[in-house]
Amino acid sequence: MRVLGIETSCDETGVALFDTERGLVADALYSQIAMHAAYGGVVPELASRDHTRRLLPLIQQVLDEAGLSRGELDAIAYTAGPGLVGALMVGAATAHGLARALGIPVLGVHHMEGHLLAPMLEEERPDFPFVALLVSGGHTQLVEVRGLGCYTLLGESVDDAAGEAFDKAAKMLGLDYPGGPLVARLAESGDATRFRFPRPMTDRPGLDFSFSGLKTHTLTAIRQLESSGALDDQARADVARAFEEAVADTLVIKCRRALDQTGLKRLVVAGGVSANVRLRERLEHECAKRDARAYYPRGRFCTDNGAMIAYVGAQRLLAGEHDEIGVMKAVPRWPMDTLQAPSSAPA
Ligand code: KG4
Ligand code: ZN
Repeated sequence: MRVLGIETSCDETGVALFDTERGLVADALYSQIAMHAAYGGVVPELASRDHTRRLLPLIQQVLDEAGLSRGELDAIAYTAGPGLVGALMVGAATAHGLARALGIPVLGVHHMEGHLLAPMLEEERPDFPFVALLVSGGHTQLVEVRGLGCYTLLGESVDDAAGEAFDKAAKMLGLDYPGGPLVARLAESGDATRFRFPRPMTDRPGLDFSFSGLKTHTLTAIRQLESSGALDDQARADVARAFEEAVADTLVIKCRRALDQTGLKRLVVAGGVSANVRLRERLEHECAKRDARAYYPRGRFCTDNGAMIAYVGAQRLLAGEHDEIGVMKAVPRWPMDTLQAPSSAPA
């Protein structure tokens, strides 16, 4: 089955073609980051308009790369949520229009399920069951994954997501949006021993996260340095390093607990923040200590992309799921633990 995947939930237009026999055949991405950077964050209306401009040419590009015509598509999957409603509607309307014209099935899929299963696109893919740490700009969740659609939420952030905290710390340090990769780069020249920031909610049991206190702590540290005239380039790098260390440590501590609690030996790490090298080093170290193994998507599939949507769509379409004709879905808020296994899918 050849499935076209369409991702338009936020500031990336992603399109890919996944063939259930050949695997990923082609993928293309257009990032709107430069357009939004001037505003310090994503402007929803601009995002929707840009998806409208980019989506059809990207679909054509992917078809050309795959050497296929539209008529050779078997189904279409698109991101139905969560995300920005206008942006989602561009993908949903395009997917439904195309599917209607071609007379093929179409399915709206969950963006975070895409991130969760993105490591399945790699050669070294995890078997079920596993623990997944989902760390993106909008979510920080630990999930026990027993099979397609069999998800138990173990813990999540009670306030900011990890990526959001990175973006806010970046802003405080005078860096552009999205700040995660820029904070990580600045932290490389930072001294890890100069400041120690708190590891929120690690001193009590449980698997929930909170990053807003860390954000306040970071702001206070920057203000103190500023008022004493000590906020030079080295101090900014030291703050970035302390912040990154605190986030990475917090995530690792909770992953360790989740592996202990479930008794599982496989850990999937996905979503934009999973691109963070220091986090990966820490998780590798932790997994090695307990004879466990960590799995990640390749770099460009850590952040938003069409390939993960095509993959998840293909699994569910194969199991017989599809949208009703003409009923497109755009669901801005959509808790992942409401997802279910397709009735004919293996558990
Ligand atoms: O998954 P994603 O592309 O979009 C959402 O669905 O949110 O994640 C984007 C988030 C942003 O907050 C960005 O700052 C963060 O991932 N991010 C990183 C890194 N690369 C991206 N955070 C820390 N270190 C990185 N290397
Ligand atoms: Zn995402």
